[in-house]
Amino acid sequence: MKSLADAQAWCQQQLADSESPAADSRALLCFVLQKNRTYLMTWPERRLTEQQWQKLQQLVARRQQGHPVAHLTGEREFWSLPLAVNDSTLIPRPDTETLVEAALSLELPDDARVLDVGTGTGAIALALKSERPAWQITALDKQPAAVALAQHNAARLALPIQVLQSHWFDALPNTAGFDLIVSNPPYIDAHDPHLQQGDVRFEPHSALIAEQQGLADIAHIIEQGRYYLREHGWLLLEQGWQQAPAVVELLTEKGYKHINRWTDYGNVERVTGGQKAS
Ligand SMILES: C[S@@+](CC[C@H](N)C(=O)[O-])C[C@H]1O[C@@H](n2cnc3c(N)ncnc32)[C@H](O)[C@@H]1O
Repeated sequence: MKSLADAQAWCQQQLADSESPAADSRALLCFVLQKNRTYLMTWPERRLTEQQWQKLQQLVARRQQGHPVAHLTGEREFWSLPLAVNDSTLIPRPDTETLVEAALSLELPDDARVLDVGTGTGAIALALKSERPAWQITALDKQPAAVALAQHNAARLALPIQVLQSHWFDALPNTAGFDLIVSNPPYIDAHDPHLQQGDVRFEPHSALIAEQQGLADIAHIIEQGRYYLREHGWLLLEQGWQQAPAVVELLTEKGYKHINRWTDYGNVERVTGGQKAS
């Protein structure tokens, strides 16, 4: 049977056409072995069992068909939290950590009331709860399967947040008075050619696509968010790489003040936000 080093080399060769053959190979091998990266590096001469080798070959074949690694392993790390993922919502992206950083940079009460709109796996809400345990965090999503997933992740990580099924703000009283609303809503235009490439081919349109060149859901959250924020409460939104000027315009039109933009690790304007005026 193959050693771990040989199995890893074989995977990399098989996945040479994928975007990240080395990382994908490590992730699949770790998943099959149920071990971490350190184990691979420490014991390169250890051998796979026949069963592990069969499983690895099956996973590599599915990866070659394009299935995202996170769907094959059922997990993706976000803000150093291991999150369960499935095909009901978006696989959390490192870019979205910019939104978490922006939220943590605001001056908010110690026990701030925070809302994550379109929570998916719960990534943003759980990252914030892990950093600010006293924040009272509500997260919502319209997809029942995403709500169940976020609840599962919250329980698994022992991070107590409230997760609700809701079409945008519908399940909330408009006296909610949140100190902060965060959202990474769908913002891709239906005709965007990127929808035919990579992992997004396997993610649901309900998590990706919005009308009006991708701006419809952002516009809705900006318009409605005002009724769910307290005076001077903050709204922070992730948007597409070319959408920041349009989001600034929408925030300005609806009377938000102190409008600011935050860039991601690739120096792309990824997050825009503003404060509800008095
Ligand atoms: C881009 S994904 C973001 C998921 C997660 N917040 C993240 O950053 O990884 C957008 C999420 O919004 C949810 N969504 C779409 N339309 C919605 C609506 N009308 N009301 C509530 N949630 C919605 C989708 O189900 C999806 O989980």
